[in-house]
Amino acid sequence: MSNDIAKQKAGEYAATLVEDGMTIGIGTGSTVYYFIHTLANKTKEGLHITGVPTSAQTAQLARSLNIPLVDLNDVAQLDLTIDGADEIDPSLNLIKGGGGALLQEKIVAAASVQNIIIADESKLVQNLGKFPLPVEVITFAWRQTQKHIAQLGCSNIVLRQKQDGIFISDHGHYILDCHFEQIDNPALLQQQLNNIPGVVENGLFINMAAKAIVAYSDGSVKEFV
Ligand code: A5P
Repeated sequence: MSNDIAKQKAGEYAATLVEDGMTIGIGTGSTVYYFIHTLANKTKEGLHITGVPTSAQTAQLARSLNIPLVDLNDVAQLDLTIDGADEIDPSLNLIKGGGGALLQEKIVAAASVQNIIIADESKLVQNLGKFPLPVEVITFAWRQTQKHIAQLGCSNIVLRQKQDGIFISDHGHYILDCHFEQIDNPALLQQQLNNIPGVVENGLFINMAAKAIVAYSDGSVKEFV
């Protein structure tokens, strides 16, 4: 089974957890893509939900499929958020932000009663850090911010690019992809990073996920809690 079919399985499974009347956070990425399509089919069949998107990309896709969206300022809290991840460790700590949406994803996750992660098995790791940790930074003097991140033990930090220049996040910032290789204390690192002037947010999601739904190449789906 290809990764895409596994992603689809995880996305479809997650859609079964959405109940009528819920306000849900809608994640970003190629796994959540399948969740959004399944959710759109369910809303067509009569499921009533309201969504809060975690990125401009997700907002656009959800709108195109007629999923009703609401501003997070206009709701007290979200019942559930379904989102993807780049790495998931055995404690369900995560690296997110491969798609550059980490800031809005973290705000939405923090507003959610329950966060469920969907992924194919390739995202499971023993230790976080092989996937370069995305850190969203203010564009002003970003090299200073980079220097402070390097002092936390990261010698390979890459300013994220897109085809025609520097990648700019939905909220107008740069992303520094930080190759830590192995993160021994993710909770400490996330605090240290967010204490650096110029850092807006980092892609470590600690103690935020209640469950991970992981689809395997043999077609099975497993829940990790
Ligand atoms: C977006 O910024 C990310 O946090 C995604 O949730 C993460 O990169 C997983 O994406 P895929 O499902 O495309 O692998």
